Amino acid sequence: MNAPAIRLGRWHQAYLYSMGMVLVLSGILWLVFHYFVRIEGEFGPTLHPLEPWWLRMHGIAAAAFLIGFGSVLPGHVRRAWGAARNRMTGTIFFAVMVTLILSGYFLYYVGSDAVRDVMALAHWVVGLALPFFTVWHVWRGRVWRQLKLAEQRASNVVVSVPENQLADSRIRHRAGGARS
Ligand code: HEM
Ligand code: HEM
Repeated sequence: MNAPAIRLGRWHQAYLYSMGMVLVLSGILWLVFHYFVRIEGEFGPTLHPLEPWWLRMHGIAAAAFLIGFGSVLPGHVRRAWGAARNRMTGTIFFAVMVTLILSGYFLYYVGSDAVRDVMALAHWVVGLALPFFTVWHVWRGRVWRQLKLAEQRASNVVVSVPENQLADSRIRHRAGGARS
């Protein structure tokens, strides 16, 4: 069986983009509700009941997105790395993913408030920048593909010089040689 190609299939891309969108959106909604939305409760302003739901949605989107992340490693990442294509933005994108995974882990499992605060800040600052890194990576990837296609086209061009021009150039060449 052939190893998966560098270029991801339509459904594969759709899965990654849609899960990535739910992930970012649920994070943003949580931030907005946490910092800006309060309702009037029995004892004064209190949390909106939707706030914990955004984090529940975020948790499931993170799990689904991690499946997508794992799915690109053996084909897309390994082959693109081997072919030295789009390595710089690929590595940065990979590092962004690792930062999100590690900080998400600390947010979930670490009790210390000081560590949690730092991790929370790192997590959502990098998380909010994820769409930017995605667009950059995909755009650079396309540029690399165009370069590859142009290279292939150039190596397929057969240089054909008409016979009479070839003869002409030989005569000119000999004449030039005789003069010198
Ligand atoms: C694969 C990528 C990601 C993973 C594995 C991940 C995982 C997690 C986990 C485990 C939590 C803790 C949930 C809890 O305390 O119940 C969390 C919280 C959070 N995530 Fe993500 N996340 C990812 C990407 C993102 C992105 C792209 C954003 C974009 C805005 C984001 C924004 C947030 C926010 C705002 C919180 C709440 C922070 C807090 O409690 O102070 N995450 N994430
Ligand atoms: C070192 C790591 C990586 C390298 C070297 C790399 C390389 C590439 C290349 C060469 C392309 C252009 C493919 C083409 O059109 O021919 C591309 C596009 C893309 N990459 Fe990566 N990539 C890496 C990591 C990742 C990761 C971790 C993800 C997702 C979690 C990802 C998702 C995508 C997507 C969605 C596209 C656009 C769809 C496509 O063109 O197939 N990449 N990448």
